[in-house]
Amino acid sequence: MALRGNPFHYGTPVTGAQFAGRTEELRALASRMRDGINVVVASPRRYGKTSLITKAAAELERHGAAVVQVNVLRCRDLPTFAAQLLTHAYHAKHGAWHRFKHGVPEFVRRFRITPGIGFDASGMPRFTFAPTMTAADADAVIADVYALLAELSAKGPAVLVLDEFQAVTDLGEHLPGLLKALADEHPTVSLVVAGSKKHLMERLVTTRDAPLFGMAEHLALDVLPTEVMTSFLVRRSRAGGKELPRPVADLLVALAGPVPNDVQHLAYEVFDVAGPTVTAGDVGLGLRRAVEHEAGLHADRFEALSPGQRRVVAELAVAPTEQPLSAVFVRAVRLANSSSVRKALDVLQTDGLVVVRDGGYRVADPFFAAWLRG
Ligand SMILES: Nc1ncnc2c1ncn2[C@@H]1O[C@H](COP(=O)(O)OP(=O)(O)OP(=O)(O)O)[C@@H](O)[C@H]1O
Ligand SMILES: [Mg+2]
Repeated sequence: MALRGNPFHYGTPVTGAQFAGRTEELRALASRMRDGINVVVASPRRYGKTSLITKAAAELERHGAAVVQVNVLRCRDLPTFAAQLLTHAYHAKHGAWHRFKHGVPEFVRRFRITPGIGFDASGMPRFTFAPTMTAADADAVIADVYALLAELSAKGPAVLVLDEFQAVTDLGEHLPGLLKALADEHPTVSLVVAGSKKHLMERLVTTRDAPLFGMAEHLALDVLPTEVMTSFLVRRSRAGGKELPRPVADLLVALAGPVPNDVQHLAYEVFDVAGPTVTAGDVGLGLRRAVEHEAGLHADRFEALSPGQRRVVAELAVAPTEQPLSAVFVRAVRLANSSSVRKALDVLQTDGLVVVRDGGYRVADPFFAAWLRG
């Protein structure tokens, strides 16, 4: 075990030295936030949306921006969403209510709907609304928070970030329309929405008849370039006290990449098993450890599939293909015809288990793929 601890991190957003690259994306996002331009950040899961947005927001805040950032998926209902907006607005820069003794009443007076007030362990106020709150009252809170940000935008950039935006209609079918209207009314506020479910994001933002179509600039986040990821691994490993030769780092990225979360996940396991110098053998062992640690999850995923889907995913784990509808593939997975394969692939792709990458159909998660190969 390394005395300095493991320098890699996966599963939750990264900051500081655990954040690699993205210079251009950061610049593009931060400048739009600063200039009141609305942005939609979209990518498959675990590419680094939240990390990127949080870093851009933190940089702007250091320069005096007011940022309200809410994770829509964490809000179980509309009143919780309204309360989260209010709590984050209270702590936004520029408002500075949190610095004053009578900040809370001063702040609350600005809103048409009065929230319940609680305090967390560190004495910070948290606002709440009863689950019985009407949609009209919740909408008033959302509109008032937006108006507050618009007011703050006179002193510096003002940004509203809604992460996991694909879940917004679970809180209220009307919310996309309301947000569109508020964004039109307050053009100095930058609305940043981020999400991962491609079809839902399309329905909300990117297709022609979507409620938010045409009002936001589209930032499609790709994976990090291999070279950036490799250099990052070498650097972080050294900072953790272990030498990672570049060819071994290349092997690690080739096995786990290109999704940043998967690369960091494998790097974490590899670092854990390695001695002072990381070897190719450690990479193999690390991969086996990563697969074993989540074997139950992989088995559950597999069991949830139909027999035909199982054969398709297992075949793709062994041999990714550009032509899954070919006679050869149909025979290999023992399905009746290519339309049965198409149906299985549709389900597997919607569930995010299979992706098309570099022109070929392959299993998205390298650890699940390794588990399937046995
Ligand atoms: N810039 C980066 N440098 C290094 N690793 C990164 C970077 N961005 C993301 N990662 C890796 O990906 C993981 C997930 O990052 P993050 O939570 O930001 O992604 P996300 O796209 O918001 O995911 P989700 O769609 O699940 O919300 C991190 O724990 C980290 O391992
Ligand atoms: Mg995220």
